[in-house]
Amino acid sequence: MEISKTDILIIGSGIAGLSLALKLKDLGDITILAKKRMFETATTLAQGGIACVMGEDDSFDFHIQDTLIAGDGLCKRETVKLVVKTAPERIKDLINWGVSFDKDPDNPQKFHLTLEGGHSKKRILHVGDYTGRVIENTLIERVLETKNIKILENHFVVKLIGDKNNSEKPSQVLGALALDLTHVKPIMFLAKVVVLCTGGAGKVYLYTSNPDTSTGDGIALAYNLGCRIANMEFIQFHPTCLYHPKAKNFLISEALRGEGAILLNAEGRRFMHKYDPVRKELAPRDIVTRAIDMELKKTGADCVYLDITHLPSDYIKKRFPYIYETCLKYGIDITSQPIPVVPAAHYLCGGIYTNLWGQTDISNLFAIGECACTGLHGANRLASNSLLEGICFAHQASLKIKEMWKKLKDQPFKEPKIKDPVIKEIKDEKVFISHNWDIIRKIMWDFVGIVRSLKMLEFAKKRLDFLKKEIEENWKGIYLDLDVMELKKIALVAELIIESAQKRLESRGTHYLVDYPEKKEEFLKDTVIIKKV
Ligand code: SIN
Repeated sequence: MEISKTDILIIGSGIAGLSLALKLKDLGDITILAKKRMFETATTLAQGGIACVMGEDDSFDFHIQDTLIAGDGLCKRETVKLVVKTAPERIKDLINWGVSFDKDPDNPQKFHLTLEGGHSKKRILHVGDYTGRVIENTLIERVLETKNIKILENHFVVKLIGDKNNSEKPSQVLGALALDLTHVKPIMFLAKVVVLCTGGAGKVYLYTSNPDTSTGDGIALAYNLGCRIANMEFIQFHPTCLYHPKAKNFLISEALRGEGAILLNAEGRRFMHKYDPVRKELAPRDIVTRAIDMELKKTGADCVYLDITHLPSDYIKKRFPYIYETCLKYGIDITSQPIPVVPAAHYLCGGIYTNLWGQTDISNLFAIGECACTGLHGANRLASNSLLEGICFAHQASLKIKEMWKKLKDQPFKEPKIKDPVIKEIKDEKVFISHNWDIIRKIMWDFVGIVRSLKMLEFAKKRLDFLKKEIEENWKGIYLDLDVMELKKIALVAELIIESAQKRLESRGTHYLVDYPEKKEEFLKDTVIIKKV
C-alpha cells in the first residue's frame, strides 16, 4: 500500500481545517484531506454570519450571557468566555486573510452588525447572506498559494491508526487510512499530528440544511479509536429551511428574522407570541423550531411561512441577494410573497470530547469545529457561534501544536504494523445501500427528531440495531464506494444519537422528551459515551 508522510494531517476543509493549516504553515508540511471537492463544506453554506462583540451598546458579558442562556445550563463557562473574548482577534485573522465583511452604510468606518435569535444585541458580522461562501473561498485561496500546504480532494478516511493493535485502546494516533477515490487506491497517511475537522452529521436525518459531506465521519473515526463522545442527543434543527419539492437543503437565514421577518401559520396567523411572548420570532432556535412543529401538527399543514414583505423591496434584494435569487428560481418572490419554510436538522451541538486546545483523549489527535464538543454550545447553539467556534479552536489547537512541535519535530514517523487492506468493490448491490440510507434517515427524522418520546427512541433503537448488524455483515471491510463507507458512518452516528437521547431523561435545549418535559438538576452534566474497547 502507498504510504504518504506528512507532518500534520488535517481531515476536513471547512473554516476550522483551513484556518488551522494557515496558522501552522511554518511548522512543516501539512496535508488537508477533503472527502469530495474542497469547497463542499458546511462553512460554504453558512449564510448568517459570525458573532463578535463590536457594537458600542454591546459587551463580552452580554455575548457570554446569551450563549449560556441558549445552551440551557450545559455550556462550559470557561469555553464560552474564551471564545467570546478572543473573537475580535479571530475576526482580525479573517480580515487579514482577505475576508471583507459588510460595512454599515450609514457609518462606513464600522461593520454592519445584524441580529439573530437569542442575541440581545446586534453582533453578527456578515457578507450579504453568503458569509460562509466568502470565508471558504478566501481561505481556500490563501491555502492554495501556501507552499507547505497540500489539499487532496476525493480522499475519504476509513479509519485512524493508533499505536496499538485493534484489541487495545491506543495512547497515540499515528495517521489515517484513506481511500483516494479519484485514483481508486488506498493510502496510508502517517503524521505526527492528526486533526479532525470533519463537520457535523446532518445527513443522518431525512431533512437537513447540511451539505452531502456531513455524515459524522470524524465522530465515527474518533469513537472507533477510543475517544469519548459527548452530548450527541443535542441536534439543533434550524427553524426555517425552504419548503419546495425541488429545493435541497436550502436555508432561509435567521438573519431575516433578525431584520424583522415574521412567521405565519398555514392560516396566515402569527403564532410565535404563544410560545415565547417576549422574544417571539427571535427566541432561541429550539423554541422556534418546536413552535413550528406544534403548528404543523395542529393545522396538518406541510409548512409555515416566513414573511419579510413589509420591508422595502430594494433593501431585501440588497441585504439578502442569495436568498432572493434562489427563491426566485423556485418561483417565490420574497419581496412580495411569504416564503414556505420547515425545520431541518442543522447543527450537532455534541461531538468528540475535547479540552480548551481541541485535544481529544488520544495523544496527538485533535478535533475542532462542529465535530468537537468543546462546551461552547451546551444543549443548544446560539446562532452564528459556529463559524466563530471553528476559527477560535483552530487558533487554540495551533497554540498547542506549536508547543508540542518542539518535541515532535525531530521524532521519526512511527510506522504501524498493519496488513494491506483488502479493498472490495460493490457489484450490483447499489439499491440495498441507497435503501438503507433512506431508512436510517427516515427513522431518525420520524423518531429521534424535534420531539421525542421513550417509545419512539426504543423503536428507533430496535430498527437501527437490526440495520447496523445487517450493514456490518453485508459490507464488512473496506469498499471502494463512498456511499457504502458513509452508510457505515451514519449508522454508527445514528446509534450514538439514540443512545445519548435514551440516557437523558429530561427536556433541555434541543432535546425534548415528552415523557419528561421538565429540566432536572441531576442531568445538569454532559452525556458522555465511552467506547468499550
Ligand atoms: C442562519 O443563517 O440562520 C444560520 C446561522 C447559524 O446557523 O448560525
